[in-house]
Amino acid sequence: DGVITLDPGFKNTGSCESAITFLDGEKGILHYRGYGIEELAEKAHFLEVVYLLIFGELPTEKELDKFHYDIQHQSIVDEDVKKILDAFPKSAHPMGVLCSLTSALTAFNPTSVDVRSEEAMYKSIVKILGKFPVLVAWTMRKKMGLPLNYGSTSLGYVENVLQMMFRQPNEEYTLNPIVVEALDKLLILHADHEQNCSTSTVRIAGSSHAGLFVSLASGISALWGPLHGGANQAVIEMLEAIKADGGDTKKFMAKAKDKNDPFRLMGFGHRVYKNFDPRAKIIKKAADEVLADLGIEDPILEIAKGLEKEALEDPYFVERKLYPNVDFYSGIIYRALGIPTEMFTVMFALGRLPGWIAQWREMRLNKEPIGRPRQIYIGETLRPFIPVEKR
Ligand code: CMC
Repeated sequence: DGVITLDPGFKNTGSCESAITFLDGEKGILHYRGYGIEELAEKAHFLEVVYLLIFGELPTEKELDKFHYDIQHQSIVDEDVKKILDAFPKSAHPMGVLCSLTSALTAFNPTSVDVRSEEAMYKSIVKILGKFPVLVAWTMRKKMGLPLNYGSTSLGYVENVLQMMFRQPNEEYTLNPIVVEALDKLLILHADHEQNCSTSTVRIAGSSHAGLFVSLASGISALWGPLHGGANQAVIEMLEAIKADGGDTKKFMAKAKDKNDPFRLMGFGHRVYKNFDPRAKIIKKAADEVLADLGIEDPILEIAKGLEKEALEDPYFVERKLYPNVDFYSGIIYRALGIPTEMFTVMFALGRLPGWIAQWREMRLNKEPIGRPRQIYIGETLRPFIPVEKR
């Protein structure tokens, strides 16, 4: 009818129908394809969740084996991609590098943009699931000045990521089951979160029928920001700043509440959760367990717990229903696993990859129209052009 409803930030606008992830922000409930996040984090492996999100059902053993085989046999990244990696300065943020390399993969795999049949779509999906962990590992190795590792077809998905990230050329590398389990759980908890900023970006970019890999690169860009996935890096930097400042959490709480100060308590608040983020609950418990199992004492875990307690009792946070989100404790685990702070959002991207793929696939299979929001124009009305010498 020509009437445009304004909704900045799409706070109340549904952009699609989706059968992938159910989220009740008032109650703090999260389900993937009808399975509770708590049960999946406890009992499933990441690759099963990847399959579940993308194809809708948990795989049988045979389906899982085939899926894994197809992914591992697509894990070779063209040698020339290394030249692009080489051209980046070591100081480059890993998210920028990851985004560029993901986008570049289209050039090396031109057939990946053909997704007209479900079979062609499947091929593109296993290709990116195989190659993305290599890019993640290379991004970190570049940052650390280490030689690049390749994937191993004999290892599980998560084990393979870890060996590519951490295996040194001069040492035997043994996988620590505590580390494998912790990363597996974190990846599951990050795997999808319905129409968040990066996922909506992937769907919108893909709705123009741009290829899968570049649509994912758009999602990586959106995830990078500190209000979204970049918050996990920002949380650790905030906790370190509090520690360096003498540990006065009250001072930082006051800054977060001061409307003239742009500082926000990173890892707190959420657009949809007005209750505990169920992922944060699981991650907080896992942080305690992983640090204890690995025999690590990290003073910033205590600072985080103190900050959380204060915020949960503070009227400012209570009134606005601000609770710890997924990014509040995840960095403490990544740190315990030996992952550098600047890599945290890259790890989030590795976890979110299946969600982005599932949402992109759903959008294409549903033949959704191109994403194209409207606006309300508030600029000048028509006026005559004035030549430059008369302005
Ligand atoms: N610290 C202090 N005040 C906050 C915070 C915070 N972390 N989050 C929200 N508020 C205040 C905000 O100032 C506003 O106050 P008022 O009503 O007086 O103007 C009120 O709470 C509502 O906030 P909003 O910005 O309108 O809410 P939003 O839904 O637009 O933003 C958010 C959600 C996640 C961007 C925001 O809570 C935030 O910036 N949090 C910190 C960054 C962060 O942790 N992001 C990770 C999000 S979860 C996982 C992910 O997406 O990666």
